[in-house]
Amino acid sequence: MEINRETVKINGKKAAAAVRAEVASAVRCLREQGKRAPKLSVILVGEDAASRTYVKGKEKACQEVGIESETIVLPAETSQDDLLQAIRRLNEDSHTDGILVQLPLPPQIDEEQVVQAIDPDKDVDGFHIRNVGKLTKGKAARYLPCTPSGIIELLHRNQIPIEGKHCVVIGRSNLVGKPLALLLLEENGTVTLCHSKTADLSSFCRSADILVVATGNPRMIHGSMIKPGAVVIDVGIHRGEKGLCGDVDTESCMGIASAITPVPGGVGPMTVAMLMKNCLEAYRVLHAGRAEKQ
Ligand code: GUN
Repeated sequence: MEINRETVKINGKKAAAAVRAEVASAVRCLREQGKRAPKLSVILVGEDAASRTYVKGKEKACQEVGIESETIVLPAETSQDDLLQAIRRLNEDSHTDGILVQLPLPPQIDEEQVVQAIDPDKDVDGFHIRNVGKLTKGKAARYLPCTPSGIIELLHRNQIPIEGKHCVVIGRSNLVGKPLALLLLEENGTVTLCHSKTADLSSFCRSADILVVATGNPRMIHGSMIKPGAVVIDVGIHRGEKGLCGDVDTESCMGIASAITPVPGGVGPMTVAMLMKNCLEAYRVLHAGRAEKQ
């Protein structure tokens, strides 16, 4: 195995700051023209500590780029009907450009019905079936889901070519794995989508030029499982005894991978930055009178 090569740590904070600066500049332009700021409305149901932290991060990012934000906090015991009503109100509110319902939702709520109730023109998460359908057909979707599109942006901004590369994605979630596989395909990567039932996962990992790990299992992938020179993208984030870690055992990949995303400071910041981009796009859609509505 080739070791002692220099492994570059891909700086997600820097790339995310650049995306946010571009959004901030576009918002400033709107304001200078006397237009109102774009607005994101977030619905948070219940008291889940991690969700609260994520929502706070989104509020802070909005503030930084000049996007107005409002968070509607509903009690954990909120009924399906009450939540749907809150969404309908936001769908009809001409001052709300983007709507995001923070997931996961409490067990009494049908998550799928909630996601599909959001106006697809305001679906800044890119989870609505209309946006997912466009992505699946390879037709430029208006809103791409933020974590997968953040990963593509991170690769582009670090001049990491995708075309012709073997891209192995581990994890087939609707939030990350599935849409990312489609986006990598759009970039002309050769894509293998692995999951918990994949036989001989290690051999797929070792054949990856770009390995994306989104399994939700702390430090599941070790340096011994990757191809020398591979680019490793770690989507996981876990709080352990020794602080935060990802789905990849980063230390063991150093000297083997050509580049790797750290945890924290890799993929995470990109997700919020891409959300800001989607909010700006939602504002433009609303102001174009939804002429392209299909
Ligand atoms: N919970 C964890 N990640 C996400 C996300 O990207 N969007 C929403 N709405 N909820 C989440």
